[in-house]
Amino acid sequence: MVSFTTFLIASLAGASLAAPTKAPLAKRSNSKKGISYNDASLVSLFSDGSWAYNWDMSVGGSLPSGVEYVPMFWGTGSESGWDAAVQTALASGSTHLLGFNEPDLSSQSNIDAATAAALYKQYITPYASQATLVTPAVTNGGAPMGLTWMEQFLTDCNGECGVTVMAFHYYADDNVSNFENYVNQAISTAASYGISEVWITEFQATGVSDDAQAAFINSVVPWLDQQPAVGRYSYFYAADGYLTSGGALSETGSAYNSAE
Ligand SMILES: *[C@@H]1O[C@H](CO)[C@@H](O)[C@H](O)[C@H]1NC(C)=O
Repeated sequence: MVSFTTFLIASLAGASLAAPTKAPLAKRSNSKKGISYNDASLVSLFSDGSWAYNWDMSVGGSLPSGVEYVPMFWGTGSESGWDAAVQTALASGSTHLLGFNEPDLSSQSNIDAATAAALYKQYITPYASQATLVTPAVTNGGAPMGLTWMEQFLTDCNGECGVTVMAFHYYADDNVSNFENYVNQAISTAASYGISEVWITEFQATGVSDDAQAAFINSVVPWLDQQPAVGRYSYFYAADGYLTSGGALSETGSAYNSAE
């Protein structure tokens, strides 16, 4: 797709030496691209991105207009305040809810699949008529973690959790075909439980240079955009040393913002 921003910069470059550094914030895309953050003020650095989340149930600041905030029930301990937070989010335009963060990892929410399914049904399923419900997001660890944990969770849900989107994370090197194969494997796992949409709520090429991360982003973002089963994705993440640097987009942040 021809980029409007490229056209704009090319046009202005003829008239002025000063190229604009970012597009107007009001002009948000309907893209699958999301911004994950802890500091809400960093989200406005991104001119592209239709949704955002912070591993929490409240926005914690203000997001640019046109960006959907997606609350998360992080794990055990999130019960208090959840219903009030969801009411606030729904009233502010949220249309999706995220389940637990990396329940398959002991250092994250660390919940076994059976307990997770019961907790999910108690706290998140009641909103199935008001929002699209997303599964817990698993790591890409091998069995019993990752997609194996997800299969057990979906089995334990027994079709009663109300989930219509499956979420997962991916951290590995910058091998593009390995990433695409893994996404396809996750799509197959979801499909075998009657779920036709997946979200990659965290992913990053790790242990490689910023140049290699930018090249990885420029390869996989267009591919993700073309996959009908991929609903949304979010590269890790809007924070200093990652997608931002000193209050501006970093090299990887610029690549992620402009990739299409
Ligand atoms: C990616 O990984 C596969 C093995 O999974 C390997 O065969 C292939 O050569 C790798 N590609 C690159 C560009 O390193």
